[in-house]
Amino acid sequence: MRENDVIIKEVGAILSDRKRLAYVRSFGCQLNVSDGEKIKGMLKRMGYDFTDDERQADIIILNTCAVRESAEERVYGIIGSMKKLKEEKPSLIMGLSGCMTAQEHVVEKIRKKYPQIDFVMGTSAINTLPKLLLDCLRGVKFSADTGEYDDFSEHTEQVRESTYKASVPIMFGCNNFCTYCIVPYVRGRERSRRPEDITEEVEKLVSNGYKEIMLLGQNVNSYGKDLAENVTFPDLLRRIDRIDGDFVIRFMSSHPKDATRELIDTIFDCKKVAKHLHLPIQSGSNSVLERMNRRYTVGQYLETVDYIRRNDPDFSLTTDIIVGFPNETDEEFQETLDIIKRIRYDNIYSFIYSRRTGTKASEIVDMIPEEVKSMRMRKLLEVQREVSTENYKRFIGRRMRVLVDGESKKRAGYVTGKSDEFIIAEFVGDRSLTGDFVEIEVTDAMNWAVTGRII
Ligand code: 5AD
Ligand code: SF4
Repeated sequence: MRENDVIIKEVGAILSDRKRLAYVRSFGCQLNVSDGEKIKGMLKRMGYDFTDDERQADIIILNTCAVRESAEERVYGIIGSMKKLKEEKPSLIMGLSGCMTAQEHVVEKIRKKYPQIDFVMGTSAINTLPKLLLDCLRGVKFSADTGEYDDFSEHTEQVRESTYKASVPIMFGCNNFCTYCIVPYVRGRERSRRPEDITEEVEKLVSNGYKEIMLLGQNVNSYGKDLAENVTFPDLLRRIDRIDGDFVIRFMSSHPKDATRELIDTIFDCKKVAKHLHLPIQSGSNSVLERMNRRYTVGQYLETVDYIRRNDPDFSLTTDIIVGFPNETDEEFQETLDIIKRIRYDNIYSFIYSRRTGTKASEIVDMIPEEVKSMRMRKLLEVQREVSTENYKRFIGRRMRVLVDGESKKRAGYVTGKSDEFIIAEFVGDRSLTGDFVEIEVTDAMNWAVTGRII
């Protein structure tokens, strides 16, 4: 974007009188965090430094999430509380980006109710930040660019949070239209990045010392379907696995309907790909899955799980569950509990259903009271805690490779990290190990982590 370079220079020149600080906060999933890192990259090019203290900031950007109502409410709360900051410092610039901004009713609400917001930038419009900022600096009261651009902000410099773990989006958008989900409406249709661009990015990251590469997409299994080149997600995994270096490859998320044998065989074949699969089941009931438009049955899901476990009984599985989908009966919920006990996930991420305007499920009149949903959630977590503790015991006496994340917040003298199986491991160690792989022997198991000692 040559035109953008010109605008970046123009903004940089206007801001060159003194050092300016930016506060960027991302909510929600890792894809959004990755967008936040690109936003920071743009800001850096325009001369900004960064701060974690919004009171010091000259510009605040809230990179929002729309997947559940609670995430949106948090953002409205923060925008409200930031009104005072703007009154104290009228030169403060405030902008919104991320999935909330892709909903027309949200943009309208912001325009009407929150005059402290100067600009709104859509999910595929990160490259328009310099233009939006220039408008602001020239005194435009409110500008919004929520257009869809075919530009993945390829080659945009990223200011990454971590020096050893990197997220690499491989595709954007989703074609699945699960009936509860807002993502296809706010992120648009599936668009895959070119495999050369992805491998080039991973090569650079690995040569800069990154140890974990997390490939991201709403449904990575449909990677490549929209490209002219004949390339699939397993092909991409194999290409990345061939890159030299000591690093682990992870990916998220996989839609169960597209988790093919070929994908699983590829995971087993590739040395650097973690032996872990995040496979969101959402519900253990066929009738609920149908109402969710998930397009697989529990039986088909179990065939995939059984195929994995036949090859490797220790293979780590995690999942997402939605509790309280509209009119979910006690029996249907019980089926979810049964499946959790049957599959024995190492971890589950569970969410109470949240009604999202514009989705199919939002049209259903839901008769299940909120208290019932909360009770089900408690029960689900209780069952999973028992399963996790039992599961983690299988590692006692064995070795694990762990990428160290730093000091444990729970235990003095301990460090914490994630094993290749994506299980939290804690052991006595020094924080200088942060960002290193270490081998541990597992000595104990709890419901949220294993304990071990460095070999
Ligand atoms: N309500 C609750 N959970 C949701 N998810 C997506 N949409 C909703 C919603 N409307 C959950 C799904 C998905 C995860 C990322 O978020 O479990 O897999
Ligand atoms: Fe949402 Fe379903 Fe797409 Fe996942 S696959 S982003 S749950 S619509």
